[in-house]
Amino acid sequence: MSANLLDGKAISASIREGIANEVQDLKGKGVTPGLAVILVGDDQASHTYVRNKERACEQLGIYSELIKLPADVAEEELLGRLHDLNADSKINGILVQLPLPKHINEKRVIETIHPAKDVDGFHPINIGRMMTKQEALLPCTPFGILKMVKDTGIDIKGKHVVVIGRSNIVGKPVGQLFLNEDATVTYCHSKTKDLRAYTAQADILIAAVGVAKMIKADDVKKGAIVIDVGMNRDENNKLCGDVDFDDVAPKASYITPVPGGVGPMTITMLMYNTVLAAKMANKQ
Ligand code: GUN
Repeated sequence: MSANLLDGKAISASIREGIANEVQDLKGKGVTPGLAVILVGDDQASHTYVRNKERACEQLGIYSELIKLPADVAEEELLGRLHDLNADSKINGILVQLPLPKHINEKRVIETIHPAKDVDGFHPINIGRMMTKQEALLPCTPFGILKMVKDTGIDIKGKHVVVIGRSNIVGKPVGQLFLNEDATVTYCHSKTKDLRAYTAQADILIAAVGVAKMIKADDVKKGAIVIDVGMNRDENNKLCGDVDFDDVAPKASYITPVPGGVGPMTITMLMYNTVLAAKMANKQ
């Protein structure tokens, strides 16, 4: 068995083409989708992510606003900005780049964003809607992973999905999305005993741990689909995932590279959510 690359860039490009067409349609009806991004402080990785989001908006014809706030900004000031953006009709999507400085209550920030503008899908209302399979803005990385797996053409129903990681941003919601597709889902995490006993059963293995190259060929079932959400640096300071790609690829049916796998899909689904929020706000 030799692996097929699940190319996030290529899948993203085809989805983005559809989004660009939708944006043009909406503009013809007098609606320009708009995204506001709030960046607090000067975390280098956050700056890079935010720049990529702005560039994607520009390419697709989406209006974007970047609001940069100093690391010592008062929580009240940030919440005030969110209230203004909630009331701003040019803005359909609001994203506050995480992580936030420690003096700011992340939960309160997320809950201040209007659920209809919560293009990250982090608001408890959207999480609850997702869990109960109602229409919702879905979290971008999990949504992108689901799109990639669907792109392989496999039938997800009854497949065993093993998720390693239980964060609110990736692990928990990605398992839920696959459960919604009738998969059997197992969650593993740092306290799991005998991790390999679970990962080796996975038809679809999703690694969102943050440990460079920790998943080896022996951890994976032959023919599995392997999705790598990791963004780590290896011993040579080279970007790498949670999966040891060279070791695992020959055993997998499909595998995502890092970079160029899940990463591009996350931004694409953010653009998708922004356009969806614009359509919902304008009843299109
Ligand atoms: N930081 C890392 N990933 C994300 C994300 O998907 N959304 C936001 N807002 N911040 C992040």
